[in-house]
Amino acid sequence: MSRQGSFGQEVPARRKDEQNTQGRKILARKILAIESSCDETAAAIVQDGRTVLSNVISTQIPIHTLYGGVVPEIASRKHTERINQVIREALAQAGTALDEMDAVAVTCGPGLVGALLVGVAEAKALCWAAKKPLVGVHHIEGHICANYIANPELEPPFLCLVVSGGHTHLVRVVDYGVYEILGKTVDDAAGEAFDKVARAIGLGYPGGPKVEEKAKEGDPEAIAFPRAKVDGNAYDFSFSGLKSAVLNYINGCRMKGIPFREADIAASFQAAVVDALVSHAMLGAETYHEEKMAIAGGVASNGAFRTAMEEACRKRGIAFFSPPPILCTDNAAMIGCAGYYDLLRGRQDDWALNAYPSLKLGEAR
Ligand code: KG4
Ligand code: ZN
Repeated sequence: MSRQGSFGQEVPARRKDEQNTQGRKILARKILAIESSCDETAAAIVQDGRTVLSNVISTQIPIHTLYGGVVPEIASRKHTERINQVIREALAQAGTALDEMDAVAVTCGPGLVGALLVGVAEAKALCWAAKKPLVGVHHIEGHICANYIANPELEPPFLCLVVSGGHTHLVRVVDYGVYEILGKTVDDAAGEAFDKVARAIGLGYPGGPKVEEKAKEGDPEAIAFPRAKVDGNAYDFSFSGLKSAVLNYINGCRMKGIPFREADIAASFQAAVVDALVSHAMLGAETYHEEKMAIAGGVASNGAFRTAMEEACRKRGIAFFSPPPILCTDNAAMIGCAGYYDLLRGRQDDWALNAYPSLKLGEAR
């Protein structure tokens, strides 16, 4: 069975997602995807939604490390400097050219407005010059779709816990592009808490991977940090109380002249975050009788979190899905996958596409 047909050619269907809602065959075989919402300049070539032909990521971490966090103006400037080269590399690594693309997908929100604008303007320019269809993609939808790339058999419905630097969302993926948000953080996102705690214990930026590394030398039960419950919605999260508890603990030790172990703080903090994430996800899975559970976003690359989720799902007979760590943090392959499903549903953008820094999941652009 050949799957190498050219643009518009009929291709035998493999999964239900390979026909759009009008029963038409796929019309976007190869997508050039662009991501520039925060501190990674990324481009990828994705074929048929789930096959990654190239995935180039140029990280700005070394620059922002000097300032202890992402500086928006610097992020925009660096995206502008790098984006053309990153796209050229993505096309070259895939052995293809812009002319051979069937569409261009780009993250249009949420994120840093100046950073997003660089990607959106680039995508519009390429589509104008090469006469290609354009599709603006929701960044969090991209994170969720990273699971499709890593797990070719995965199809909706499933539950997905999205944990990134800006979002902590428990989402029911009802169908391709159809989301029901069960709960979200009422204050800090989980990744944000990792970043703030890392700064407090002097580990610097980016916080998540550094806390994870430090936690390996510590005792997760050394300090009993609180597990917050949010009044009202049982699926909502809260991490600012935990972050304050860590800061108070450090200040208390300093004032009393008591030495503290950074590794124990990192391990105990990480255990509290993982506990909150896993318990909310399992409550959702049990209540909604979900058979499939996925994770997504930068924090989903955390080994302790992945292991705890896998174990909790195994105990309940729930199939567990996760992208490899490189597809959890920001990348363009996930944007190509999400763009494919947008196009499949008949969504397409025009020159009015803008950057939407606070775009909500499922919101019309
Ligand atoms: O998804 P992502 O790359 O960007 C956003 O969309 O926000 O997530 C970045 C967040 C940061 O807060 C970072 O500290 C966190 O993910 N993160 C981690 C790990 N790797 C990245 N948190 C915990 N453990 C990690 N290994
Ligand atoms: Zn992200």
